[in-house]
Amino acid sequence: MLAILHPNTELDSEAYRQTMHYLENLPGVSVRVHEIQGASQRLTEIYLLGDTKTLSKEEIEALPAVERAIRISDDYRILGRHKDDHRQSGFTYNGVEFSQNNLNIFAGLCAVDVPEHVEQMMQALEDNGEVCTRMGAYKPRTNPYSFQGHGKGCLPWVFEKAGKHGIKVIAMEITHESHIEEIDTCLEKLGRPTGVMLQIGTRNTQNFELLKAIGRQKTYPALLKRGFGITLNESLNAAEYLASEGNANVIFCLRGMKTEAGQPHRNMVDFAHVPAVKRLTRMPVCVDPSHSVGSRDRSPDGILDVMHATAQGVIAGANMVLVDFHPKPEKALVDGPQALLMKELPAYLEDIRLCHDTWKK
Ligand code: E4P
Ligand code: PEP
Repeated sequence: MLAILHPNTELDSEAYRQTMHYLENLPGVSVRVHEIQGASQRLTEIYLLGDTKTLSKEEIEALPAVERAIRISDDYRILGRHKDDHRQSGFTYNGVEFSQNNLNIFAGLCAVDVPEHVEQMMQALEDNGEVCTRMGAYKPRTNPYSFQGHGKGCLPWVFEKAGKHGIKVIAMEITHESHIEEIDTCLEKLGRPTGVMLQIGTRNTQNFELLKAIGRQKTYPALLKRGFGITLNESLNAAEYLASEGNANVIFCLRGMKTEAGQPHRNMVDFAHVPAVKRLTRMPVCVDPSHSVGSRDRSPDGILDVMHATAQGVIAGANMVLVDFHPKPEKALVDGPQALLMKELPAYLEDIRLCHDTWKK
């Protein structure tokens, strides 16, 4: 059972105190409180877990702070869509709105390499009116001898440059929970010039302890990539791990599936699942055409496969695009062959806008 409180209910109000007193004393029921900061209001949701079958919806709705109650199913309790559940999706972070109804583009470097490339990338984003990017500092690599990312050493100059160019959110993969503190300490020291969305890569989709650690903190939203070799249901449950620990600001990212049948692409593009994820859950859905396609190949009519894949995802209703660009792909330390060129950025952004307008119609 889920009890949704009246918007902007103060946690020190008498109505809240009475409501909590009642709920916390229900036998066999444990209570979990989730705060959601939307663009215009703050919502408090109270999940009642355990022996809730005998509770009546009317009884919960009669409590002074409760606006309405919803009986929720076991699947994706917090992030899922339930019968008669008309809650809004998404959240606002660092002034940027993330929902199932809008679109944010995160073009950027797969891996941070040298300051000059980061500068060029961010300058191009600023010139094109973009306020989000992707920047990999901690890289999960197949081969232990491959470049593993600059780690915390590059954070100060990456964050400073982001602030300088008006970047509000950087999607940054972390591979260990200690990276959360490294990012947080650095941002705090610099006076928080930008924001970070913690990315969990496809290799870590079911790293449950990492998911729990990211779920326990509420400062940074999370971007969870679908596991490339597991079912959609398993990946959605992984997302629920984040929410179950307290952080429901989660975006789910499709990035292609590992299969021989996916050749000649690096992965089998799975963007037809965008509407399915939006139907099953309230998470905004991201697509990563770069790691799906894995190359700068073009169709005979000259269109990049990455653009075709992006269009499929955006027309299917994607809410975020995570895409690799690089000023000099031949010099990139990770995934250069799939990075688009800076000169392709304006047309790429324009094509995405056209696809998004088509979807909205
Ligand atoms: C970068 O985004 C990933 O770390 C990369 O795709 C890993 O692949 P690889 O280590 O097999 O090159
Ligand atoms: C990435 O986006 O940098 C990345 C490593 O992607 P994935 O986890 O999807 O391979």
